[in-house]
Amino acid sequence: MFSSFLRFIGIVGFIINALHKANSCDLPAKGNPYFPNNFSFGIATSAYQIEGGWDADGKGPSIWDDFTHNYSHLIDKNSTGDISADSYHHFDQDLAALKELKVNHYRFSISWPRIFPNGDISSRNQKGIDYYNKIIDKLLKNGIQPMVTMFHFDLPVDIQKIGGFMSDKFIEKFVAYATELFENFGDRVKIWMTFNEPQIFCKSSYADGRYPPLAGISGEGDYICVTNTLKAHAAVYKVYRSRFYEKQKGKISIALGNYFFLPKSNETEAAYRALQFNIGFLAHPIFHTSGGFPKVMIEDIKSNSLKEGRLTSRLPSLKGYWKNLIKGSADFFALNYYTSRMMQRAVQPKGLNPSWERDMDCDESLDPSWLKATSGTWLYCVPEGLEGMLKFLRDEYGDLEVMITENGWSDVGELDDVSRIRYLKSHLQAVLNGISSGSNITAYTYWSLIDNFEWRSGYSIKYGLYSVDFQSSNRERTPKKSANFYREVISSKKIPNEIHV
Ligand code: NOJ
Repeated sequence: MFSSFLRFIGIVGFIINALHKANSCDLPAKGNPYFPNNFSFGIATSAYQIEGGWDADGKGPSIWDDFTHNYSHLIDKNSTGDISADSYHHFDQDLAALKELKVNHYRFSISWPRIFPNGDISSRNQKGIDYYNKIIDKLLKNGIQPMVTMFHFDLPVDIQKIGGFMSDKFIEKFVAYATELFENFGDRVKIWMTFNEPQIFCKSSYADGRYPPLAGISGEGDYICVTNTLKAHAAVYKVYRSRFYEKQKGKISIALGNYFFLPKSNETEAAYRALQFNIGFLAHPIFHTSGGFPKVMIEDIKSNSLKEGRLTSRLPSLKGYWKNLIKGSADFFALNYYTSRMMQRAVQPKGLNPSWERDMDCDESLDPSWLKATSGTWLYCVPEGLEGMLKFLRDEYGDLEVMITENGWSDVGELDDVSRIRYLKSHLQAVLNGISSGSNITAYTYWSLIDNFEWRSGYSIKYGLYSVDFQSSNRERTPKKSANFYREVISSKKIPNEIHV
């Protein structure tokens, strides 16, 4: 890990230089301006965020149905995903947009409670299976490869009732659900992701009390959640390789990421530490040759736990069978990247006691030159962060295939969305730069195809290349300027010099 840290110091020098020279949200080109011939361009959505049809055709409730119905005051304008963009009834409009863009792949998620309404195999719902069969067939008929996420936050309520991610039972329930997906769709789906952004949902659901089930077990529930997610992921990988791979020949990963961290002034150790406490928390056990949680997490959480008077670490131990099963349990790196933060070691203890923040022990800040999204509070345009993340992955985990599975920009929904085009342009440039620097990046996926339910922000924050008329029962989709821009990128396989929109 020390030599990786030294390499990391090299990257950050370059990034800091670039940051100070670059105009905010632009990124200078390096090397070949063309994406490789077989590069796959795509776009993403998730079930709860777009589908609606919350109780249609036998679907059971997910924790997000429950949450939006019973805690609506915690969501912007008391919104729900009950109807959302109603893709459950209007998938053909999504398909028309996908065809217009000429994307090579479409990343969407399957709603577990549509397949097993109470989470368990005993409740198998053929109509839910039919719905996804129809989507997959229509995509393939139009030359669009399906890229499927098995879990994107919408846990069946009954799985939550047995403890959700806190319970060991979760692993066996998730494996049964994934097996059903392989049996029904694996003949046609060749790219799978087990979970989307575990470090976000584990923290938000089990520590912060931001997402359902609002379990505030800070500094412990979040760590148990990550551990059980890794175990469930690896158990599914094992089932796929032993029972399905030979016939189906697909690839499996887990979508990780969101933030990159840069050092504030010369605090390289703080930035590296923050990366290990975030992406490394899940990536190290799967992709690092030594497996297991990052050493810095094991040591510091144990030492904090003992100081708190506990007998053992709050971080579960990952040893023997599970450590070995998790190590190597992915065929490519599925990277979600949105933004970055500057990091320094904390001036004084941070956050709740105990908590992930306190264990990480860093203070974050922003570079004043970063362009801020006009909606929401957290999103800044930092394309250098994507380059930095790609280099971090190369240095830490070696020569991996990387698919960018999410990258997106939010605004308040204008059709003339020039800031989104700027973000897309600079992040696509970061991908090209990453390829020139030696990353084996085979796919880029923009978040999102259409404006949709942005979790607790409801419909106030928009990421789509297509706007949705949420007032009309048909939920018509209208392309924004950025849709034209992305279509041009896909057809020319390069970033246009001039933006013809
Ligand atoms: C990542 C999540 O996967 C997605 O659900 C969310 O809408 C975007 N980030 C934007 O916040």
